[in-house]
Amino acid sequence: MKKLRIGVVGLGHRGRQLIEVSGSFDNVEIAAVCDLKPTNWYEQQWLSDAPLAEKFPEAVFYEDYDKMLDEASLDAIIVETGADIHAEFCMKGLRKNINVLTDIPVVASLQEAEDIWKASQKSKAQIYTGANANFQKLVVLLKDFYNKGLLGNPYYMEAEYIHWSMPKSKESIHLNENGDWRKLLIPIRYSTHSLGPLLTILKEDLRTVSCFGTGPQGEGSTKDDMMCAQFQTESGVVVRLMRNGRCRAKIGHHNYRVFGTEGYFEKIDRFSTPVIRYNSMKELDTELKETGGEYMPPAYANNPKAVGHGGVDYAMLDHFFKALSGEESECVTLREGLAMTLPGIYAEESAKRGGEVLTMYYPWDKEWTTKL
Ligand SMILES: NC(=O)c1ccc[n+]([C@@H]2O[C@H](COP(=O)([O-])OP(=O)(O)OC[C@H]3O[C@@H](n4cnc5c(N)ncnc54)[C@H](O)[C@@H]3O)[C@@H](O)[C@H]2O)c1
Repeated sequence: MKKLRIGVVGLGHRGRQLIEVSGSFDNVEIAAVCDLKPTNWYEQQWLSDAPLAEKFPEAVFYEDYDKMLDEASLDAIIVETGADIHAEFCMKGLRKNINVLTDIPVVASLQEAEDIWKASQKSKAQIYTGANANFQKLVVLLKDFYNKGLLGNPYYMEAEYIHWSMPKSKESIHLNENGDWRKLLIPIRYSTHSLGPLLTILKEDLRTVSCFGTGPQGEGSTKDDMMCAQFQTESGVVVRLMRNGRCRAKIGHHNYRVFGTEGYFEKIDRFSTPVIRYNSMKELDTELKETGGEYMPPAYANNPKAVGHGGVDYAMLDHFFKALSGEESECVTLREGLAMTLPGIYAEESAKRGGEVLTMYYPWDKEWTTKL
């Protein structure tokens, strides 16, 4: 079997995790890896039982990304650098016709959105978005519920991504040991895990936004402790997104609620026991039903290899590797990635302007401009 030659740039926590999961696929070879910090490859790291260099002796380590792209004959690269610096790595791959899977948010500015959009159109290679939240059970069930007409038309949706943070905890120290992007990124910019799942059942882009932030309120805060954005589509659907900088309670990360003309769907994540609930006026029994809200997509539930964020990382990579092999798959496209990323950039700008309502455009709109 010809193996896919995969390269990974960014060997922080996420890059290392995706190397391990990718390495479990029979048709994948981790051929090359790259980081500015060789220790991330050669030395044992947090949450690992051995240095990755020992686990993947065939992989060639590079400190220089351009050199890796020139020398390693890759079928694809996985971009796992900090959340504010993905686009340049993706575009370099695309220019060399190397396929790309990029983590989210895809871009850090409207200019990057324009550049990567154009680069993808010129390239013979494919670029997909590593939006693993889009592969979770919630999305599988929600899309099915919507496609069967049980939800009707969604008219209001909301999502929260509230990540517990305790600055001096072992976890926080490790999460920040490879760079400062977590400390610097404005919370609402990390909109992707929340909007991505909701956008899978919206037939239009988010068009307007107004956002407020609390500013730094707690001791030691340097950015907004909480931000809240409200978006609206052209037809009037309202989407609310809450994102935290500070939260000192482990209350569960991801919540989603969808109100439709015929039904209701939610995932409420509290204290590690997430629950999905739904009901529809189209069914004989209109009472609220309940099922487990774990991440694992149902199609992978019996696959012992399906690991990483409860199995969604494996599912996402499975779709990516199938796409590379010419098989049918449901990867998250660049367009979908930008549709969940750009609202965060506009929302940050709205918050800076005191909640001013801004109109949002995307590189595929005729009114597109890189000016905010
Ligand atoms: N989808 C998810 O579930 C999920 C979860 C965690 C993180 N993430 C995303 O994964 C990405 C990486 O997160 P992380 O926690 O691993 O970050 P990290 O800061 O631990 O790792 C980033 C790595 O990129 C390396 N890097 C930076 N510039 C480089 C360059 N020019 N060449 C080579 N290497 C370079 C850094 O040295 C660092 O080791 C982020 O975009 C983050 O948002 C996604």
